[in-house]
Amino acid sequence: MEKKSIQRKSNNNYKFSILKSPLLYIHIPFCDSKCNYCAFNSYTNLNHLKKDYFEAVKKQFLHDIEKFKVKEFETVFIGGGTPSTMPLPFYEKLFKLLEPFLKNTKEITIESNPNASYEWLKNIKNFGVNRISFGVQSFNGEKLKFLNRNHSSKLAINTILNAKKAGFENINLDIIYATVLDNYELLKNDLKIIDSLPVTHLSAYSLMIEENTKWEGDYSKRKDDEELEIWFIKEIKKRFKQYEISNFGKPCLHNLAYWEHKEYLGIGSGAVGFIKSKKCKVKNENFRYYTQTDVNKYIKNPTHYVYEYLTDNDIKKEKVLLGLRSITGFEEDILNKEEKKRVEILINENKLFKKESKIHSNDFLLADALSAYIIE
Ligand SMILES: C[S@@+](CC[C@H](N)C(=O)[O-])C[C@H]1O[C@@H](n2cnc3c(N)ncnc32)[C@H](O)[C@@H]1O
Ligand code: SF4
Repeated sequence: MEKKSIQRKSNNNYKFSILKSPLLYIHIPFCDSKCNYCAFNSYTNLNHLKKDYFEAVKKQFLHDIEKFKVKEFETVFIGGGTPSTMPLPFYEKLFKLLEPFLKNTKEITIESNPNASYEWLKNIKNFGVNRISFGVQSFNGEKLKFLNRNHSSKLAINTILNAKKAGFENINLDIIYATVLDNYELLKNDLKIIDSLPVTHLSAYSLMIEENTKWEGDYSKRKDDEELEIWFIKEIKKRFKQYEISNFGKPCLHNLAYWEHKEYLGIGSGAVGFIKSKKCKVKNENFRYYTQTDVNKYIKNPTHYVYEYLTDNDIKKEKVLLGLRSITGFEEDILNKEEKKRVEILINENKLFKKESKIHSNDFLLADALSAYIIE
């Protein structure tokens, strides 16, 4: 996420009133192998730090729930990196720590590579996790090698079936498209396999060429074939209802809450948290806080944060953009008179519609352009 506003190191002098039911994100910065396209905060050569990671996570968690006075979490998301690279004793300790805060938690998601063992899946389910997200990317062997994934199509199918057998009712697959290897035949075959699996949700991402990845600057790895992409998304929509640009199926409550701009704690190396100003008694400021991305440094000092302060206008812009990218929409009364007039124009052009007090988009793909037009 772009850090666009003023950054300061500390807000330790502020006092916070009770954060009623925020979201919790926990970052696991370890992977078994590094995918060619991936710029996430994840490392393959730091396995020796896994043992110390829990103590650091615990220290930060206890610090944050005390600082922000948290009593319970609405949803939890354990993401990465690759959470399935962490052994079961890590999660046993983690869920013991989280248990008092999970009494009313509606959804606990974990990301996993599609090579997790049945034993790992079964135990994770028993710890209370009720949604699993597999980084499958494709079921085509050649494409998996091209992306530098360390699983085969067969192993992925087996792992997804095992997740169902272990009791998971909510199963997501991450799929990457618009790579140079994609064509109708390959994607049709992926869809056919998806049709045969107990999947409730798809996240379909168009390949992005990112900085600090093996593919940095190499756009030959992408294929810009608009017709193929439109066809693929249409096929996905026949199977799963679209509720955000890249997301289809039974909505992930954690992501919906992000897009509704709810508050969240960010725990772990490279995690981000977000707190609204009304919780902060001394100064009226909204802020995000960032932990250290260097895992060694995080372990030494897990409560060293960099704060990004956001103005009310920053928040308004985000609410409009995130609301138009998804089914969440945004409350019309956050807009001023001029902005409301521009919304009316877009409603007349059939680009937006109003439902109760909220404004929604007819086409999530236009979100960037529409939000830039509404808030100049
Ligand atoms: C945090 S990552 C993945 C979780 C897990 N580590 C995995 O890969 O199995 C979430 C998803 O983002 C998507 N992703 C990551 N980098 C991407 C890129 N450069 N372009 C498109 N999608 C990307 C992948 O589909 C990936 O599964
Ligand atoms: S896509 Fe997932 S498995 Fe691959 S390097 Fe990134 S975080 Fe790790």
